[in-house]
Amino acid sequence: MSTLPSWYYDDRQQIGVDFENTTQVATYDRDQGSNTAEEQALLHRLAIGAGSHVIDLGAGTGSFAIAAAKAGAYVYVVDVSRSMLTYTIQKATAAHLAPIEFHHGGFLTYEHRAAPVDAIITRFALHHLPDFWKMVAFQRMAAMLKPGGIFYLRDTIFSFEPAAYREHINAWIMRVAKEPGTGFVAADFETHVRDEYSTYGWILEGMLTRTGFTIEEATYPSTEYAEYVCRKNM
Ligand SMILES: C[S@@+](CC[C@H](N)C(=O)[O-])C[C@H]1O[C@@H](n2cnc3c(N)ncnc32)[C@H](O)[C@@H]1O
Repeated sequence: MSTLPSWYYDDRQQIGVDFENTTQVATYDRDQGSNTAEEQALLHRLAIGAGSHVIDLGAGTGSFAIAAAKAGAYVYVVDVSRSMLTYTIQKATAAHLAPIEFHHGGFLTYEHRAAPVDAIITRFALHHLPDFWKMVAFQRMAAMLKPGGIFYLRDTIFSFEPAAYREHINAWIMRVAKEPGTGFVAADFETHVRDEYSTYGWILEGMLTRTGFTIEEATYPSTEYAEYVCRKNM
């Protein structure tokens, strides 16, 4: 990237949970990184397969990226955490997967030098940016995508009534901290709310539309999560 102004956000800093910590990385992969059926369903839904070119931004331990490469896609794995990248490189090497590029960078710093891609996916990563910078990230991602290309976003995104935020956040933390097998404890969700930048769906939906995406599907599994399948306007 050309020289950045001094006011530019440093998106390589770890916000909230420290994903440079190698124990955290291994724990994340053990608990979140191996839902093959979910990855297959997402590949099918987004029509990603042989010949597709895909960027996974904030790829973590590469669960989706590796499934996409196994399905024949060419995948650009991007993450700000070198520990996450190292872990994913080891997994991809063990699986003998060649069509994957690894890039140390973030939403605001990754430079896509190849041709625009068919799809960009980002899951549970965008909340690391404050809202102003989310909009910068959307514009950067739109520039990396072909006209008509797919942008998939899933994250901790709120859809409860703002006036009831205390009850909803408290109830959510109590609920998710009790879910078995996630590896997360209440303190992780408290950190998320306090130190990270999850926002409301109606804010993100305005940003997506303004960027030049059409939201084709918006799903709210609960009032704390949302998922969007968007298409870049022609
Ligand atoms: C909760 S993990 C999600 C990993 C993966 N997307 C998944 O679905 O399992 C969040 C990831 O986002 C990465 N991340 C944090 N800030 C980022 C940024 N500004 N740009 C790109 N990735 C970022 C973290 O390093 C971490 O690997």
